[in-house]
Amino acid sequence: MAAADLVIIGAGPGGYVAAIRAAQLGLAVELVEKDAAAGGTCLHVGCIPSKALLESTELLRRIRHEAGEHGLRVPAVDVDLAALMARKGRVVEELARGIGALLKKHRVRVHRGRGRLDGPGRVVVAPPEGPEVLLEARNVLLATGSEPQALPALPFDGDRVVSSSEALSFSAVPPRLAVVGAGAVGLELASVWSRLGAAVVVLELLPRIAPFADEEASRELHRALRRQGLEFRLGATVLGGEGTGDGFRLAVEDDKGRAGELPVDRVLVAVGRRPLTRGLALESAGITPDPHGRIPVDASFRAAGSVYAIGDLVEGPMLAHRAEEEGLAVAELLAGKPGLVNRDALPSVVYTSPELAQVGLTEAQARDAGREVKVGRFPFRASGRARALGDVAGLVKIVADASTDRLLGVHVVGPHASELIAEATLGMEYRAAAEDLARTCHAHPTLSEAIREAAMDVAGRAIHT
Ligand code: NAI
Repeated sequence: MAAADLVIIGAGPGGYVAAIRAAQLGLAVELVEKDAAAGGTCLHVGCIPSKALLESTELLRRIRHEAGEHGLRVPAVDVDLAALMARKGRVVEELARGIGALLKKHRVRVHRGRGRLDGPGRVVVAPPEGPEVLLEARNVLLATGSEPQALPALPFDGDRVVSSSEALSFSAVPPRLAVVGAGAVGLELASVWSRLGAAVVVLELLPRIAPFADEEASRELHRALRRQGLEFRLGATVLGGEGTGDGFRLAVEDDKGRAGELPVDRVLVAVGRRPLTRGLALESAGITPDPHGRIPVDASFRAAGSVYAIGDLVEGPMLAHRAEEEGLAVAELLAGKPGLVNRDALPSVVYTSPELAQVGLTEAQARDAGREVKVGRFPFRASGRARALGDVAGLVKIVADASTDRLLGVHVVGPHASELIAEATLGMEYRAAAEDLARTCHAHPTLSEAIREAAMDVAGRAIHT
């Protein structure tokens, strides 16, 4: 068989997007995937199923707690957990079919099996059954993603102590659920199970939730989630735990160093993810992972010779859209085009209610980098549209350079923050100043006016606060 222009190992958002783009650019592409369908963690046990569950349970929360305010009297709502899970499954299946069709349309050859490097220009595929297949490759792209990080003191057992993969598919609502880690996974799945009736305690090592977020944004979100009944223990260290017949007992040290016990039914450990490089035979291509298990790459995502790596395998935030950007960039570079990823305009979202979305620097990061900043804010309680929605928690906060007025970071906690952040991201991509947002007409009444008002507030001239 002739050597392919590009062999990609891993068909998640990084790998399959790279495959389609490379094929569009005329390269002969082979894609190796260990699972039965393309889509990776994001589609099968990450972004998409979690969003399906968040949507269903947010609808439940609103019916139970907000319908009355709208003058709607709804008799008790029953939850059919199996049906709710089946809907999630259908969403995933339909999207998986769509990706399969796209790959076919672009004539990407998909090989089912585990791929590994076998020296320069060679990839071996071990299918679930049958003999191994050798693929010759002019270039190889590693896009195998990541796996949940275990806590040494609390190893996964797939039943009582689980990762996000299992917590997306519990067959019954655990009466008491502990969530270790108040990052994106922890907060989203804590919300899902709390809305379904679990008593949820979130244990976070650091003194605040969503520690990657701007401090004010993280405070706003904390307040809103606490009001929804989530319990947070900050500065908590999990020392270990053991099964107790019908449950599990966690040993936890609080922020004052006092040891205590927390009896629960299940524990979700969500303390980050690790690059998945096991079995790739990186050494055969002269690649050595760094101490965090990541593959070092240059500015063109080259790890060694003609081997490239992207997404969760390399340093940076573990986000599906970053992997997509990097996959596009590698495909374009290999086709002789300028493949670029702008790390300064990379949004991130936590899909709680309210949602948390951000792009660029937090105020603290900007100040730590020695920048003089101006800050503008606008609370959703002053937004007509948010009032009509009955969704007034949160704010928009804009951090701009004090001398140039250039946007450095935008932070949104509030309704549809995940969509609102796109305007700020576009602004940052175009190197906009806060003034540019402030002078752009926004339809009334919309949530997006909050972005404009926060931008106006940077210059001290917001109208509605
Ligand atoms: P994360 O890095 O977002 O959060 C982990 C949290 O656990 C942090 O708050 C950390 O301080 C805390 N932690 C670490 N060790 C701990 C310990 N021993 N005890 C208590 N707390 C501890 O990681 P997470 O939430 O597991 O997500 C994994 C990756 O997937 C992240 O990179 C995240 O950005 C990404 N992701 C993104 C989503 C989104 O964009 N909506 C949704 C889910 C995940």
